[in-house]
Amino acid sequence: MKNEIEEQYKYMEKIAKINEDKQLTYAIYTMGCQLNENDSEKICGMLENMGYHKTDEVKQADFVVFNTCCVRENAEDKLFGKIGEMKRQKEERGTILAIGGCMMQEKHIVDKLHKSYPFVDIIFGTHTLHKLPEDTYHILEKRNKIEDVIDIDGQIYEGLPIKRNDNSKASVTIMYGCNNFCTYCIVPYVRGRERSRKPSDILQEIKDLANEGYKEITLLGQNVNSYDGGDGYKFSNLLYDVNKIEGIEKIRFVSPHPKDFKDDVIKAIYDCDKVSKIIHLPLQSGSTKVLKEMNRRYTKEQYLELVEKMRKSIPNVVFSTDIIVGFPGETEEDFEDTLDVVKKVNFEQVFMFIYSRRVGTVADKMENQIPEEVKHERFDRLKALVESQIEENNKKYIGTVQKVLVEGKSKNNENMLTGRTDSNKVVIFEGKEEWINKVIELKIVSEHMWYLKGEI
Ligand code: SAH
Ligand code: SF4
Ligand code: F3S
Repeated sequence: MKNEIEEQYKYMEKIAKINEDKQLTYAIYTMGCQLNENDSEKICGMLENMGYHKTDEVKQADFVVFNTCCVRENAEDKLFGKIGEMKRQKEERGTILAIGGCMMQEKHIVDKLHKSYPFVDIIFGTHTLHKLPEDTYHILEKRNKIEDVIDIDGQIYEGLPIKRNDNSKASVTIMYGCNNFCTYCIVPYVRGRERSRKPSDILQEIKDLANEGYKEITLLGQNVNSYDGGDGYKFSNLLYDVNKIEGIEKIRFVSPHPKDFKDDVIKAIYDCDKVSKIIHLPLQSGSTKVLKEMNRRYTKEQYLELVEKMRKSIPNVVFSTDIIVGFPGETEEDFEDTLDVVKKVNFEQVFMFIYSRRVGTVADKMENQIPEEVKHERFDRLKALVESQIEENNKKYIGTVQKVLVEGKSKNNENMLTGRTDSNKVVIFEGKEEWINKVIELKIVSEHMWYLKGEI
């Protein structure tokens, strides 16, 4: 593996020579989850090493990358629209166009690209991201179209350059792939089987981040609590070890799977003062019958018991979740079970999705698909419930003092700063620029659905 990365560094050097003094720029558009965001940071790292500089002006860019997601359907039309827009720019500027990520692991998508968008230069998959320098070199030298997608399980490549999006928070991927095959989900097909990074590599990366001044780390994986560092080293061990790293003040992780949430992890969350006490615990459905059809391998009762157990073991723990409405065969009664769990758990945050059929998954072949209007109607009812709960929960913050990691200036108001509480709520407040990247205490004075207002 190491040799392969060394080889890529040689390509990066060669390209940097070719690009010398040309002031070339790149733009990147990332879809999907935090894992994809983290992949994009590596893509940016490679592009910078090749002599391209980041720009938000896609139309001016000499290199454009789309890093795609295919977890739900609506992404496809959006992507094809964007690629279509690139045709003229390519003709006029000679922009290099690379499309990568999860969607490129789907054969029907790549076929469509070849047929309808033959001007795309590089198509790369989730297992060949590290070869972008080599692919780029071939484009620059020969101007041949490259398709570099493999279907086998990827290896783990350490040591790629990385250009991070943020100066105070950083994501660290701890494992790749997924073995769970939830019946609605495409991820195991496009990301391959689970493979964990070595604990020493992860810890070194986080120590380096701490030395660079990063305060908050999010550990990423599709199923972090089945992390396997070898020799019995588990996710809980990793939490303890990250907790010891000086300079890091907050540790988050996404996503754990309820079926693998064992006592050692609960104890680690309790023991480790830096580990955030908001736990993302994907529910998907509150109906035991639907959960079985989804292959989630827990029941409604087991989920609620897990929440209760954590509440007893971890003071002030709160939860966020993912929910899918309109899975095939979901009856009104099943949906009410979902609402029931939402009422009982009282989540801080709910990411809600309308079920979307994915080619190649088991659920796509199920006969009892739910009509669109029923899905939407249920989605709206869930949304109304969630919003009313968030409003109630927000009120509880008023008058309390919260520790907030200051992230920067508010996007909507230059004169205000923004940060997040431990429970991941956005807080807006007046303050000095030198507070950025520090943890401060704020009194919460009012709530506004999607954010809280604070005072020093
Ligand atoms: N591995 C993570 C999440 C992966 S995808 C986990 O298991 O929690 C993020 C979310 O997208 C999922 O939690 C699920 O709620 C949603 N999702 C996945 N496939 C979907 C589909 N076909 N239709 C709608 N939502 C989907
Ligand atoms: Fe998809 Fe399930 Fe794996 Fe999450 S755990 S990525 S939902 S298959
Ligand atoms: Fe999407 Fe791939 Fe993430 S399908 S949700 S970008 S793993």
